[in-house]
Amino acid sequence: MAKPKRRYVCQACGSVAQRWQGQCADCSEWNTLVEDTPATVFSAKHDLSSGGRAIRFEPLDAPGETLQRRTTGLAEFDRALGGGLVPGSAILMGGDPGIGKSTLLMQAAAKVAQAGGAVVYISGEEAAGQVRMRAERMGLAKAPVQLAAATSVRDILTTLGNMEPPALLVIDSIQTMHSDQIEGAPGTVSQVRGCAFELIRYAKENGTALVLVGHVTKDGNIAGPRVLEHMVDVVMSFEGERSHQYRILRSLKNRFGPVDEIGVFAMQGQGLEEVGNPSMLFLSGRETKVPGSAVFPAMEGTRPVLVEIQALIVRLQSGATPRRAVVGWDSGRLAMLLAVLEARCGLNFSSAEVYLNVAGGYRLSDPGADLAVAAALISALGDRALPSRAVWFGEVSLAGEVRPVAHSGIRQREAAKLGFDRAFGPPGGAQPEVDTRYAEIALLPNVVDRILSEA
Ligand code: TYD
Ligand code: MG
Repeated sequence: MAKPKRRYVCQACGSVAQRWQGQCADCSEWNTLVEDTPATVFSAKHDLSSGGRAIRFEPLDAPGETLQRRTTGLAEFDRALGGGLVPGSAILMGGDPGIGKSTLLMQAAAKVAQAGGAVVYISGEEAAGQVRMRAERMGLAKAPVQLAAATSVRDILTTLGNMEPPALLVIDSIQTMHSDQIEGAPGTVSQVRGCAFELIRYAKENGTALVLVGHVTKDGNIAGPRVLEHMVDVVMSFEGERSHQYRILRSLKNRFGPVDEIGVFAMQGQGLEEVGNPSMLFLSGRETKVPGSAVFPAMEGTRPVLVEIQALIVRLQSGATPRRAVVGWDSGRLAMLLAVLEARCGLNFSSAEVYLNVAGGYRLSDPGADLAVAAALISALGDRALPSRAVWFGEVSLAGEVRPVAHSGIRQREAAKLGFDRAFGPPGGAQPEVDTRYAEIALLPNVVDRILSEA
């Protein structure tokens, strides 16, 4: 038999290399390659065509097998999940350390337990006492959650094998879990993958909803667990700026529901509070008379969220290369928009520093933000405040046209509800039944005229 080749697995992205390198060829991280258990060498004798058990085929319309979802007791969590926990499903919950994953899951665990479902919460990071202290602070100490501090998957599965399978099993976190069948320290790709595989198998066989907490590396990937993304049914990320109180729960992959719904929470002294109506959230404390501030009615799944976009332009005296800094939006998109403003509208940003910020720590991904960003930039450049109760939306093309975006009606209705009486948007977007004055903007140069003449 041929000697198995050594192989090296990147701990950040899971790619495999034949020899050790200082830098991973795939994700460019340094010092992340670790020797892995050798791959099995296949030979001609490797024949799987006989000797197995027969598998059973089933019709597609198996009766009585509709998805019975279980509510987490948190409407915002359910919404992001697409309606609640599906029995036997595996959910990977990613997020920066300290963002509130354990807090969120302890709250959901307590609610499920209070509603009569059996819940097992395994903490591999904190001692049981620490977790209990936090639960006490959140007023959840009376909830019948079965709490344990453990890291050995063998211990966990042995224990679970001797009891009624729980409705919900939380593993906090998968990077602390350890299997004695696999070499390597907890957190390495092979450990993470092996432990997750065993836990997911338990969940599928017993109809338990499993939540695996996964830490995120500095570049935003769920560390090691990127290799888990295809093994689980749902991948969620819990996001937010630690300096702000708002947290957004997003699903990035969902085998049982849509991926564009979000849950919104606010971190308070007693845990996470649900924010059922987030549309005003990111506007609080807004100064209306400042140049460079525009309001954009964004869509998050089926929900509108009004956000403030702030631009600041600083003229440079010297010939130094000007900075462009963006928080909460795509920097490539900003570069494109600046180019369109220069080429189509004759504005000059070349000797100016451009700063763009989405207020409240919110991250914009809606393509309809172009027009609002353009309005903020033009307003900042011309040092003129925009009309204070106006919203802006529309996608901008390279030719400088303003294009329609989805959900024009919902955006305007939400803006009207919150006291905005003007909307600037693409042609054809007017909603006669909405109580706002609608101004059609077909071309970006028209925006420049409007802002610099009438605002
Ligand atoms: P935690 O859930 O431990 O984060 P993670 O599991 O994602 O690492 O949350 C830790 C942070 O949340 C910590 O900085 C304190 C804050 N926090 C509150 O502000 N209020 C609370 O009631 C709780 C429990 C935590
Ligand atoms: Mg934690």
